[in-house]
Amino acid sequence: MKRLKLIFLIVVCMGIASFFPNSVLALVDGPCSVCHTMHNSQGGESMEPGGGYEPFPSLTRGTCIGCHTGTNDGGDIPYVMSSGEPNYGTDTLAGGNFWWVATDGEGDDTKGHNVLGLSNQDTNIPAGTGAPGGWITCSNTCHMTLAAKQTVIPELGSGCEGCHLAPAHHSDDSDVVVGSNPANRGGWFRYCSGHMSGSGHGVEGIEDTDWQYTNSMSDHNEYLGHEANLAANAGFYNLDNTMSAYCCGCHGGFHDEVNGGGAWIRHPSDAVIPNSGEYLNYTVYDPLTPVARPSLDGWTAPISDVRPGTDLVMCLSCHRAHGSPYPDMLRWDYNSQVAGGGGEDTGCFKCHSLKN
Ligand code: HEC
Ligand code: HEC
Ligand code: HEC
Ligand code: HEC
Ligand code: HEC
Ligand code: HEC
Repeated sequence: MKRLKLIFLIVVCMGIASFFPNSVLALVDGPCSVCHTMHNSQGGESMEPGGGYEPFPSLTRGTCIGCHTGTNDGGDIPYVMSSGEPNYGTDTLAGGNFWWVATDGEGDDTKGHNVLGLSNQDTNIPAGTGAPGGWITCSNTCHMTLAAKQTVIPELGSGCEGCHLAPAHHSDDSDVVVGSNPANRGGWFRYCSGHMSGSGHGVEGIEDTDWQYTNSMSDHNEYLGHEANLAANAGFYNLDNTMSAYCCGCHGGFHDEVNGGGAWIRHPSDAVIPNSGEYLNYTVYDPLTPVARPSLDGWTAPISDVRPGTDLVMCLSCHRAHGSPYPDMLRWDYNSQVAGGGGEDTGCFKCHSLKN
């Protein structure tokens, strides 16, 4: 039954796709009835794909997962979950894909975030431990698991909404640097925001128009990064509107990187790539190993340079946000990165260019 419903939803979403013009969209458009239902009744029958009278928030005709499951083909709906194994890097988007962690609810727990409606709770992380590197450990929250309904602040939602706290499909995201304009922050970057961090902080960045379905050195998202204090937990309150601050809302301990003697105790994140030695060779942006920029003020488009001495390594330099075919949801196969093995110029070797 569940599976059937999913398939119906996919069909409906394909229908939705055909309503969109091929042009790039700043926000959702199309007839309301494609996505919403007022009474869930047409001709006396359910308008929910697959039938039934399940209530969905905002009177939508489906769930986040329902609308966002499918195979990416460069169209206007970003799919984050595939019904069959995706072709990594070909039909997956910037965040990767949940398929590897979610397959039939019991995929490989190490290959992505375990999210409500797609996966069971992560069996490798002992119950009650929560997000590794976590510093906020209230029980029954998204900080503990994203694969259960959280009960502490019900209005914030659970699962996908544990991370996309304020989905804003109708917000105007025509600003090039989304989230930078205080008068128009409804959308933030990909609806990624926090709560309890002062004034409703969220992520600022440049959104690639096809979510990196196609990508190249000059065709990609841009992320903000701030060096700040590398000897403390981090979050929006001290790392500003950066992607790392966002990840650190749940994994804040992983930003506590230097010990008293100044040696790294963890791989640095939001640390400037030195303007010296092997780092000087990473100058052409590779979307497989993104870097963050200390400022996006005045930017009108992504740039194809990596600038040692200016740009920063960050969480997404190594990880996908949703999932990947690799353990720890890394962006590339870490096991194949062998020092002195003459390996390809990718992954760790992008920055550590003399270690292969
Ligand atoms: C392509 C799909 C799509 C279309 C078309 C669409 N919506 Fe929505 N709308 C959504 C989704 C998804 C949500 C729930 C999540 C959110 O708020 O972002 C939503 C939320 C809303 C909300 C509650 C949140 C808010 O922004 O106020 C209202 C009201 C709304 N839609 C009205 C409309 C109306 C009126 C139309 C037609 C003129 C329409 N929508 C067309 C997808 C759509
Ligand atoms: C009725 C179908 C529908 C539902 C339900 C829906 N979405 Fe979407 N969503 C869309 C479409 C269509 C787009 C592409 C809009 C565009 O072109 O910017 C989209 C875009 C997005 C984006 C990317 C925004 C960007 O800046 O590019 C995110 C993130 C997202 N949705 C998350 C969610 C979450 C979380 C939920 C559940 C709360 C949800 N969606 C529910 C149809 C839906
Ligand atoms: C751990 C936090 C987290 C969870 C859980 C999560 N997302 Fe995302 N999502 C992100 C981030 C971060 C991005 C931006 C990825 C990037 O730019 O690399 C993103 C991007 C997206 C996009 C744009 C496409 C892309 O790959 O950039 C969509 C659509 C989306 N998410 C929908 C969803 C849906 C639907 C769910 C639930 C099944 C979900 N997300 C769960 C953090 C999350
Ligand atoms: C809302 C809380 C939340 C946010 C935000 C969040 N995570 Fe997580 N993350 C978790 C939880 C809970 C787990 C442990 C369970 C699991 O694997 O899903 C986890 C696990 C992980 C893992 C280990 C995966 C595994 O299964 O072994 C990685 C890597 C990770 N997160 C990276 C990130 C990155 C990168 C970001 C920012 C894009 C991020 N997280 C944002 C809650 C979060
Ligand atoms: C230089 C690459 C790199 C960067 C940058 C990076 N990670 Fe990781 N991460 C890894 C690798 C590799 C692993 C596998 C475990 C290990 O080697 O320690 C991992 C493991 C993890 C895990 C799983 C830990 C566990 O106990 O299972 C989480 C969670 C995580 N990273 C989150 C983050 C967050 C959040 C950030 C940003 C603050 C980040 N990572 C930055 C490479 C990186
Ligand atoms: C986007 C660039 C980038 C990527 C990708 C990257 N690193 Fe790093 N790495 C850095 C930076 C920047 C430093 C800190 C340099 C400094 O200022 O000391 C660093 C430091 C290190 C150090 C400590 C060196 C020291 O002097 O203490 C190790 C070990 C390391 N990285 C291993 C890895 C591994 C393994 C990977 C792949 C999983 C990886 N790095 C991926 C940028 C990167």
